[in-house]
Amino acid sequence: MLHEQIALALNKQITLEAQSSHTYLAMAVWAETSGYDGTAAFLYEHAEEERMHMLKLMRFVNERGGVAIVPPLTAPAVGYPGLDAIFQSILEHETTVTASINSVVDECLTLKDYTTHNFMQWYVAEQIEEEAMARKILDKLALVGGDRGALYLFDRDILSLAGSPNA
Ligand code: FEO
Repeated sequence: MLHEQIALALNKQITLEAQSSHTYLAMAVWAETSGYDGTAAFLYEHAEEERMHMLKLMRFVNERGGVAIVPPLTAPAVGYPGLDAIFQSILEHETTVTASINSVVDECLTLKDYTTHNFMQWYVAEQIEEEAMARKILDKLALVGGDRGALYLFDRDILSLAGSPNA
């Protein structure tokens, strides 16, 4: 049976993952309607991944005798100033997600919940990848600078840059 505090922490994480999916979806819509088809494909795929992160947590909470809460979400931004702003905001967002995951792990240790601690290791590893990917993309964008031709190539190649399985 899940400790009440762990169930609370996991449900908070569920909200964060759901909100991430929602935010990436809004970014994907902006990219698609701004001519960045490759970036849109990457962001739609990322939104799906976040939904999967949410579901995995929900199923775990239910399986362990808790009740997963389907969270209300806040409306994400509609417009974005550009690709740099999007990926900067993704990096900041993922850093927040990492901190939140670390605090769940911390709570597991405090309450000696080694099962949830073990389950959360998947998320710890995933966050290393997510942050690294956002940094890698930001580095590429810095190389592109304001060059339109290079931006065109960036958008065309983003799925392979990000190491996407669908590239
Ligand atoms: Fe599921 Fe990007 O954190």
